[in-house]
Amino acid sequence: MTTSTSPNQPFRYSKLGYLALNVTDLERSIAFYRDMVGMELVESRAGEYAFLRCTDQHHELVLYPSAVAGVKRVAFEMESAGDLDRAIDGIQALGVKIERVSDADARAMHVKRAARFRVPGAELPFEIYEGMDQGSSWKPTVAKLTRMGHVVFQIKNWETSVPWLLDKANFRTSDLITGWIAFLRCFPNPLHHSLGLGRSEKTHLHHFMFMVSDIDDIGKAINRFRKGGVPVTFGPGRHVASTSIFLYFTDPDGMTIEYSFGMERFDEHAPRAARDLKPGLETVDEWGGAPSPGYAQHGAVEGAA
Ligand SMILES: [Fe+2]
Repeated sequence: MTTSTSPNQPFRYSKLGYLALNVTDLERSIAFYRDMVGMELVESRAGEYAFLRCTDQHHELVLYPSAVAGVKRVAFEMESAGDLDRAIDGIQALGVKIERVSDADARAMHVKRAARFRVPGAELPFEIYEGMDQGSSWKPTVAKLTRMGHVVFQIKNWETSVPWLLDKANFRTSDLITGWIAFLRCFPNPLHHSLGLGRSEKTHLHHFMFMVSDIDDIGKAINRFRKGGVPVTFGPGRHVASTSIFLYFTDPDGMTIEYSFGMERFDEHAPRAARDLKPGLETVDEWGGAPSPGYAQHGAVEGAA
């Protein structure tokens, strides 16, 4: 935990907290994320929103009905109230517009306090917050989900956004594939990457990932998806960058989801140096697989293009 309240100390993240998604058919997506992905529906209002979780916390996913499917925002939890304050002050001081979420809206989102801004360049809609409500003990169903692990975007203005996140927002590079993608961790969260940013002409979702605790979850998912008509677009395979075994599949709107078993962790004080990995499919999948059409193609980012 944070040991100092110095205003000059860079703010510290706890983790990738939750993802807010726009979906074109709320009830259909609720059923998919509950029955196929294995999340628990926590709270919903017909035609307005649905909260789902895969840990003890209130939610990892919020679904909103929309004509256009994609990401509404991505939210990072800060370690403490002081970290949230330092982040808000620091980002504001850079001239980046940051909007404090009202107390009523924060309560509705089951967090103590939150603020929202757009990452310069890519215009990714970010939220930073503290203190999400906790629920009862998480009980896995069809898959032993342990958390939401990361979100990966293809972004425009990569040369602006990635240095900004590293220099101004306390992200760290775990690995890089030059000209292609940066794998970033929200310091000091140990996971290899909580955020991946690929270079593109247009900002859009690439995929988001749930961690599973058992390799059997990957195998069982293949059969569950086959029976349920869920397209598997890549895998199973193994990433060189994070060493994780992966399986990619698509939600009813075509957005790409990953199950991941295993993930390299970084020590806060003595991390290994970031590597510049070789671009190519053999780096994406050391087992020699290749993605199918539809992989990582769908998912607008609200307010960005
Ligand atoms: Fe991933």
